[in-house]
Order: sequence, then C-alpha cells, then structure tokens
Amino acid sequence: MTAYLHAWLSLGVMWLHVIAGVAWIGASFYFIWLDNHLREPPEWKQALGIKGDLWAIHGGGFYEVAKYRLGPPQMPTELHWFKWEAYTTWLSGMALLTLVYYLGSTGYLIDPAKVVLAPWTAAAIGLGSIAAGLAIYETLLRSPLARHGALFGIVLYLVLVAFAWGLFQVFSGRGAFIHVGAIIGTIMVGNVFLGIMPAQRLLVRTVERGATPGPEVARRAAEAKLRSTHNNYLTLPIILIMISNHTPLLYSRPDGWLILAALGFITALARHYFNLRHRNINRPVYLIAPGLLTLALIGVLLPQVPSESGATGQGAAARDIASDAQIRQIVATRCLSCHSAHPGNPQFQAPPAGLAFDTLAELRLHRDAVLQATVQTHYMPLGNVTQMTEAERAALGEWLRQQTPK
Ligand code: HEC
Repeated sequence: MTAYLHAWLSLGVMWLHVIAGVAWIGASFYFIWLDNHLREPPEWKQALGIKGDLWAIHGGGFYEVAKYRLGPPQMPTELHWFKWEAYTTWLSGMALLTLVYYLGSTGYLIDPAKVVLAPWTAAAIGLGSIAAGLAIYETLLRSPLARHGALFGIVLYLVLVAFAWGLFQVFSGRGAFIHVGAIIGTIMVGNVFLGIMPAQRLLVRTVERGATPGPEVARRAAEAKLRSTHNNYLTLPIILIMISNHTPLLYSRPDGWLILAALGFITALARHYFNLRHRNINRPVYLIAPGLLTLALIGVLLPQVPSESGATGQGAAARDIASDAQIRQIVATRCLSCHSAHPGNPQFQAPPAGLAFDTLAELRLHRDAVLQATVQTHYMPLGNVTQMTEAERAALGEWLRQQTPK
C-alpha cells in the first residue's frame, strides 16, 4: 500500500516539477528573446524613458512591449515578478529527489559494487554535495574571477566535472547524474534568490522613491546580469541531465562522469551559438562543433559486441550455450522479483520500465535492451540487489545473441 501511494505521489510531484520547469525555462527563454529583439523606439517613446520597443503577434492579437531605461515615471499598480516558477521548480525537484532517490528503491542511488552505503548516509552525501556545490559557486562569484567571464565559465565547468567524478565514485551512475543536475539546479535557483531578486527589489524601491539610482543599484544590477547569464548557459545542460535518466547507456558505464562532462560541454556550446545568433552574430562553428562532438560521442559509446558466435563457424557449436531451462532459472532468480507481471519486490507495483520476463518469449522480444542493460553495461539488475554473477551475465549474453527478437 505504501509503495502504491509512493508511486502516485512521485507521479504527481514529477508532473508539477516538469510544469514548473517548463514555465521557468520558458519564461527565461522568452525574456532573453525579448531583450535581443528590442529596437530603438520612436522619439516620443524615448521621451518617456523607454529604451527598447517591440511588437509581436500571438494568439490572434497584437502585443506592444516597452523596456524602460530605468523605470516608469510611476509604479504600475500591478507588477509581475517571475520568481515562483524558479522556486516551485526547485522545491518540487528536491521533493522528487527525496521521494525517488532517498525514500524510493535504493538501487537508483546506491551501487554496492562501488560503495555499500546505508540509505541515510547516501542521502547525507547527496544533500551535502548539493550544499557544497552552491557554497563553492557563491564563493567563486565573490572572488576576482567573477570579472573574467570566460575564465569563470571554465572554472565552474571544472568544478562541476569534479563533482561528477566524485559522485560517480560513491553513487550509481544514475544517482550521480541526478545529483550533478540537482547541484546545477540549486546554483540556478540560488542565482534568482540571492542575486536577481534582491537587485530587482532595490530597483523597485529606488523607482518608487523617485530617486536617481546610485552606484549600489548599478553594482547589484551588474551582478544580477552576470548571474542571469550563468543561468542562461546552464539551461540546456540541465535539461539534458534531467532527461538523461531515461537513457541508461549514458550513465551505466564506469566512465559515465566523462560522458556527463562531454554532454555538459556540448550543450553549453550549443547555447553559446544561440546567444550569439540572438545578437545577430552568426557563428555556425558553435553549432557544427557540438554536432561533430555528439557524433564522436555516439561513436565512442558504440557497444563493443564480441564477434557474433555464429561468425566463428564451428567455434559456436563448441562453446556451451546455456539451455532454455538454465536461462529461465537465471532470470527467475535475478530479474523476476521486479520484472514480473506481479513483482514480488514490494517497491514495485507494476513491472519496472513495463518489462516483465515471465516467459522466455518476452525476454527474446526485448533482446537488445536486455543485452544493453545486463551484459554490455551493469545497469541491471538494479543496484545488483539480486547479486547476478559475471558468469550468469556471460551466459545470458551468449544465449541472447543466439535468439532472434520476435
Ligand atoms: C530491483 C529490481 C530490479 C531487478 C532485480 C531487475 N531490474 Fe531491470 N529495471 C528495474 C527498474 C526500476 C527499471 C527502470 C529503470 C529506469 O527507469 O531507468 C528497470 C529497467 C530495465 C530495462 C530497461 C532499461 C532501459 O533501457 O531503459 C531492462 C532491459 C531491464 N531492466 C532488464 C533487467 C534484467 C534482464 C534483469 C535481471 C537480470 C533485471 N532487469 C533485474 C528494476 C529491476
């Protein structure tokens, strides 16, 4: 019953998290687009203090957008802030992290082949690294490094890669990926909470008083701009990291942290291309390079399939292929507690990933996915809770390669 409610709760929080994330990043993309498309307004608007003008048509109506140099002559009665999208995304994300990784199946986070951790120790390491990531970022931002845009980017990137490496040593690949994502998300929401909102509050207060903005307003505004630029570069990487949880081939290898580093680099570079293009600078190299790097990554990750048994002629016959009965036995002891129409493992209400291996026909049907998850990588059995041996993996692999998926 608890697992059943847990599944519904996770679903609800995940739904909220995705909606809030879409609203946050969508608004962020929209305002970047706005800023980059503002044109010089006619003189009568400039006289009102408007520095940028934009017209758009959407949903059957015309929109006129005006950006003020500082602020309107008097405060509007209603001013929209755009902060709850960010806060809701983070709060629901932390709730989801807790539900799925700290309270859910331990196999998502803990990999006994790396380090045997008690669930609460794993949660403490996870939360501790998120807090440490934020603290390091905030320290860097207050250092002289913050004045050197590109260098700051490189240092921040290396810090995140170091986290990826460290987390990969203690957590399952999937758990390490999600924690790097959580560190980035926390840095991003910290930028909103600790820098962008305070700067905006100060600006609003200054405009309300009708005062001319002093150096403090300018300093805060510059810091907010810097933080928002960092967030901008992090948007594409974080979305990829969050959805990568559905692509085990990325994280279920020992060098998964390197793959994560490559993906972060590729996606941030692609973001750079679009940032330049918004400013009417077209540098295709920043799009071609990520494209080529992605192709290289696809090549590097190509599974090393041992020569097909059939190809060696009589060698295949000489090698012992496990019998159907032996395979049925392996699957029954190592997989069926989860991957059954009625899983015995109380953490699962339905076969995980929709895969039930109650009959060999079902195993054949998903031949390639099983090879990938169990033989080429060690993603399955999840956290190897059922203690599958190397010999069993090899036997399953040999047998599967003899089958044709039907
Ligand atoms: C402790 C429970 C558990 C055991 C035991 C287990 N699995 Fe899984 N399996 C899961 C879960 C949970 C998922 C979904 C993972 C995800 O969402 O990334 C999954 C997903 C899969 C997938 C799909 C992976 C993909 O590409 O998305 C395959 C294939 C798979 N399991 C095969 C197996 C095989 C074969 C065994 C036995 C050798 C096995 N599993 C044992 C829990 C288990």
